[in-house]
Amino acid sequence: MTAQRRNDSQRDAWDRLADGWAELVRTGTDHNRVHVLDPATLAILGDVAGKRVLDAGCGEGRFARMLAQRGARVTAVDLSSRMIELARQEEQKNPLGIDYHVADIRDLSLLPAAEFDIALAYVCLVDVEEYEAAIAQIARVVRPGGQFVFSITHPCFTMPGAEWELRVPDSFRDADRLYRKVDNYFPARETPLRMWPRAPAEVVNYHRPLSEYAHALRDSGFLIRDLVEPTPDPKLAEQLDFWRGYFRIALFIIFDAVKAGQQ
Ligand SMILES: C[S@@+](CC[C@H](N)C(=O)[O-])C[C@H]1O[C@@H](n2cnc3c(N)ncnc32)[C@H](O)[C@@H]1O
Repeated sequence: MTAQRRNDSQRDAWDRLADGWAELVRTGTDHNRVHVLDPATLAILGDVAGKRVLDAGCGEGRFARMLAQRGARVTAVDLSSRMIELARQEEQKNPLGIDYHVADIRDLSLLPAAEFDIALAYVCLVDVEEYEAAIAQIARVVRPGGQFVFSITHPCFTMPGAEWELRVPDSFRDADRLYRKVDNYFPARETPLRMWPRAPAEVVNYHRPLSEYAHALRDSGFLIRDLVEPTPDPKLAEQLDFWRGYFRIALFIIFDAVKAGQQ
């Protein structure tokens, strides 16, 4: 299958998943977002008031709304037209001035060059086969000195086949997790993923080693300023044993990069 055909099938899958996804993230039941990724991402972005922000791969617009509520001037794009329809419905109900577009982040020609102070790709690049093209497009629309922040599932601990080796089958107790089984970190490859049990479609996730992201950033003129491996509030692990695993391995990593050049 060509890269374009794979991208089309990814778009169709996300169209079919959009309503279920919106229900999941709007009811706050996506604990990784609420307790792990949101606080870390907001801390990296700092004060966004008055800043021009691109949310690339915005889904149904949840995080775009969080940024707009903090005073950012947000443009948000997604490959899935159903995701954007859901985002626009929410914008009509509670206007925040977010400008939504259906767009593939491998081609952001609808946006002017050097337009944004910040670009964000919140768990989107793992969905994109041609991630170098996407990063190059993002580099074009971020102003020199601007910021590009993206989160991905951590390739060292979430590659295909990675899982806890359990002392007791199917146990969720942390004491029953012996170690994390990881192997074949280096080969880039794709895996079909069902986002939740009985989801109506599978998306494809692209595994690649961390250095590939670093090289693509370098080649597009970004300098990595920081890497964040977010963990939840330790109090959660005191309340619920399940969370202890988040202090043993990192499930996500967030890149904080700056576009080289003078403003
Ligand atoms: C895991 S969801 C994350 C959505 C949102 N950022 C969030 O965290 O709630 C991945 C999103 O990336 C979008 N996506 C995948 N490939 C894309 C591409 N090439 N261009 C734009 N969006 C894409 C999907 O349609 C989907 O909405």
